[in-house]
Amino acid sequence: MNRSVRWAVCVLAAVSVAVPAVGAMKPASARQVSSNEARAQHQSARAGAGAEPWWKNAVIYEVYPRSFQDSNGDGVGDLNGIRSRLGYLHWLGVDAIWMTPIYPSPQVDFGYDISNYYNIDSRYGTLADFSRLVATAKKQHIGVLMDLVLNHTSNQHPWFIESESSRTNPKRDWYVWRNGHKGPDGKLLPPNNWQSVFGGSAWQYDKKTGQFYYHKFYIQQPDLNWNNPQVRHAMYNVERFWIRHGVAGFRLDAITTLFEDPKLRNEKPLLGKDGKPVINAFGHVQLNDSLTNNLPQVHGVLRQLRQVADSYHRHILLIGETYLSSVNDLRKMYGAHNDELQLPMDMQVGFINRLDVARFRKEINEAETELHGDEPLFVVDNDDNHRWERYADAAGVKDPVERGNIARVLATILLASRDTALIYYGDEIGMVTTVPTKKSEVRDPVGIRGWPKNKGRDGERTPMQWNSGPNAGFSKAGVKTWLPIPPSYKTVNVAVEKKDPNSLLHWYRRMIALKHTNEALHDGQEIMLNTRDEHVLAWLRKTPDGNAVVVACNFTGQPRTESFDLKPEGVKGRRVKTLMATPGDASGQTLHAVHLGPYGVFVGQVE
Ligand code: BGC
Ligand code: MG
Repeated sequence: MNRSVRWAVCVLAAVSVAVPAVGAMKPASARQVSSNEARAQHQSARAGAGAEPWWKNAVIYEVYPRSFQDSNGDGVGDLNGIRSRLGYLHWLGVDAIWMTPIYPSPQVDFGYDISNYYNIDSRYGTLADFSRLVATAKKQHIGVLMDLVLNHTSNQHPWFIESESSRTNPKRDWYVWRNGHKGPDGKLLPPNNWQSVFGGSAWQYDKKTGQFYYHKFYIQQPDLNWNNPQVRHAMYNVERFWIRHGVAGFRLDAITTLFEDPKLRNEKPLLGKDGKPVINAFGHVQLNDSLTNNLPQVHGVLRQLRQVADSYHRHILLIGETYLSSVNDLRKMYGAHNDELQLPMDMQVGFINRLDVARFRKEINEAETELHGDEPLFVVDNDDNHRWERYADAAGVKDPVERGNIARVLATILLASRDTALIYYGDEIGMVTTVPTKKSEVRDPVGIRGWPKNKGRDGERTPMQWNSGPNAGFSKAGVKTWLPIPPSYKTVNVAVEKKDPNSLLHWYRRMIALKHTNEALHDGQEIMLNTRDEHVLAWLRKTPDGNAVVVACNFTGQPRTESFDLKPEGVKGRRVKTLMATPGDASGQTLHAVHLGPYGVFVGQVE
């Protein structure tokens, strides 16, 4: 599936790891070492001896800054709010946070329309607040990743204001300006049929200069012209600026869309399985994106971005937002000489969107075997798509316990695979998508334009649910928050789940700790097991020196018993010790009979 199609989707226990008591933040000497800290210490002990970069097998947590924590009572989250919650993220075990854009912005697309790349939007704080956030995070062994939007700026950015001022302005060529043409009735038509991801033509007419500018996204997000060396130069300077401000790396927004066909040929309709054109969530024929997405020229830019990153002594990470339809295209994003992105997002595993054993097996196996050993970055959720519960809905599961088990299945795929794992804020407590019920409540431009067919992305961007108090602990009592607090907050929140060792939150925390500390789960090879099974997805993680872990996830609502023969995989152990099991699942598991309840998960150390 291509990116636009995906967009349509949204707008489309037995435990071997000790869990410190709730809120146990004792003085440094006595306090329990968090799993990310243990890992960081291990890494620095190995530093110099070809130490692995910090992001390998790490856990990255996406924060939507507007919705994480409001510190100043304006109903919008901010940097000081995020800083005040770093203790929680440390407790959870995350290695880095990626914040969606926090630069000055008219907020048409909530920060993805940047008007100044060198500052912080005053709604979120100041550059000084940013530096404090980075410094505090560093003490907790948490890196900070900036979202870098390179494809477009805001139409309020001074570059664009200059560019649109006249055809001869020196910045004219910084954006994509083209002439229209006259239709049969003499009406002026856009240069071609290209569409905006957010609906309608991708061309906007400018009366003053009589030309159209191209915008892959919203009208207020004109595309930069990446063929212009001055544009590249300007953006590499932005990259340097934030590295100097201490970031651990970047998430490169919409990175596959930097270039378009220079001949401006029309795109063809995307055809569905039935051979008919696909109609998108805006009611238009969906185009196939072949001339405006994933053009080969992007690789030259990725290499240059990487050269800048590699010119620093620290390991600067480049993550790409890469909605690609095949593992071959994904592989190219690492670069022929490992000189492009370290972690292009693998959207092929997490966005299957139904519990289809064969598909998961195929996609995970491809990530393991077809990326030349490069590290995959798995992700199940983000700020553009309905949350994890889409899997439960697709399976028609209503029972709350079974839904919770499905959340554990997804967390296990994410955290027990050989990958870097990307978690979306709130997923660890099971926050669900809460879509607006009235058009007047919609804040996302996609939903305003697409209502009622496409209700936009507000539903997955609601405030973090910290506790059962006023405004769920996100903001002070009595404050009107920028999006409403979902009704689920009374029971689905951090405080309640911290107290319950069987909660989803503890499941995430233990899985993260295992990923950090269990050798097989940390970086062991991943081998699919029982590959004919249509009900249970199972795999082995093993290290060359014989450390082995078996993982089994029941994709059905019926109990299953699974048997594993690990001899062909060269695993000597015959016994298995439970590391993780869905609450309520039977104990006394053996390799010959692993009992799984409905949507149950088992993770066991082979001994
Ligand atoms: C981001 C979206 C944003 C778009 C335009 C995406 O890929 O994730 O939230 O609207 O880029 O910048
Ligand atoms: Mg605020």
